[in-house]
Amino acid sequence: MAANHRTAPRYAHVVGWGMAVPDRVLTNLDLEAIVDTSDTWIRERTGIRERRIAGEDESTASLSFAAARQALEVADVLPSELDMIIVATSTPEHIFPSTASLIQDWLGASTAGAFDLSAACTGFIYALNMAAQAIISGSIDTALVVGAETMSRLLDWEDRTTCILFGDGAGAVVVRGSEMPGGVLSNVLRSDGSGCDLLGVPTVGSRDAAVPDAGLPRDGTRPPMHKMYMNGREVFRFATRVMKDSVLEAVEKAGLTMDDIDWIVPHQANQRIIARAAKNLNLPEERFISNLDRYGNTSAASIPIALCEAVNDGRIQPEQYLVLVGFGGGLTWGAMVLQWGVAGPAEQTAIKRYRREFSYTVARTRSRFSRTLRRLAELLNRSPLGGLYRFFDRLPHDASDQEGSS
Ligand code: COA
Repeated sequence: MAANHRTAPRYAHVVGWGMAVPDRVLTNLDLEAIVDTSDTWIRERTGIRERRIAGEDESTASLSFAAARQALEVADVLPSELDMIIVATSTPEHIFPSTASLIQDWLGASTAGAFDLSAACTGFIYALNMAAQAIISGSIDTALVVGAETMSRLLDWEDRTTCILFGDGAGAVVVRGSEMPGGVLSNVLRSDGSGCDLLGVPTVGSRDAAVPDAGLPRDGTRPPMHKMYMNGREVFRFATRVMKDSVLEAVEKAGLTMDDIDWIVPHQANQRIIARAAKNLNLPEERFISNLDRYGNTSAASIPIALCEAVNDGRIQPEQYLVLVGFGGGLTWGAMVLQWGVAGPAEQTAIKRYRREFSYTVARTRSRFSRTLRRLAELLNRSPLGGLYRFFDRLPHDASDQEGSS
């Protein structure tokens, strides 16, 4: 953990990146057998050819974990060096505990704080900004930021206007403090909650927990519980407007002009939205990183997955300026200017690789051991020996306990 009283300017650089998508591919032709649609309609109206769908054993946490491991590998960072883990997701493993806490445990990142962040498809930009600002302020040194979703679990597979659009996956980055100028240079984060009826998933929460699920007519008067609803045309209009405005604002805030920008890494929702944004910004569409033909809309995972692929195939190069831009439910939207800082994966140190693998193995065992110990302590507490146990448990364990109680 970094000291809070730094004097030299600090920058937050992405130094590691990783992604994970399920093996199972669902093509447009496969969808023709599920809903009244066609490969031609989907390709022409969205640009999507196929998407990945999580298998029974896969979940938001398992995809996050796989992407996170890759990102740590690329950065050559140990789990024990992480100060903060943020998972941006709308499809968390549970309402709580957070998916980030599970990842913290599975990695063995024993000195990291962990929380989930909910800003729908804009979540990764929000999360990366939170981590970067904590690094720039000097409060932490190293963070893991994940965008991960298993949207397939919340899709209404009878609604052809939504189920054709989404896919599952995870992307992760490791962000580190440095005195080298660059990294995250500016941010625009926005929300307009008046658009909450345009896109969402009614599910267990303070409002909806008591709403019965089964047997409600599909009469359009209310969206089905636990299923995504969306007003596609309105979202389309909103997306094209905010992409242009937020990109221009983020670029200006970074003290740059659009001529300085090498790549736009947009949220992957619809190729027509990307094409419209390119036209509005007067940029060639080739300057927008796009892979939605293969993955569809993976919500909070789409930007880190696109980023990861573009770095791995050499399109993104050191010193280039990127704009990440996203939009989604909430409504939320945001953009960020990033100057890329690293030429490729960090030079791997064998000892660190070994220690990372060791950390993952030990983490699982330690976690099981802690749970077993807690259960044993509870049993002992309830047993006739409980009085004796409670007596010893109340004794100060070390000097710091004694100081605390005095
Ligand atoms: N297959 C075949 N036909 C379909 C269809 C499908 N999967 N989905 C809709 N249609 C039909 C509609 O019923 C409509 O038929 P009608 O003219 O007989 O009424 C027709 O196609 C046109 O529908 P429309 O909604 O105008 O299509 P569109 O060109 O706006 O495309 C979306 C629909 C959803 C692809 C588009 O609006 C979109 O991408 N919106 C943004 C969604 C988004 O990005 N969401 C995530 C935000 S993070």
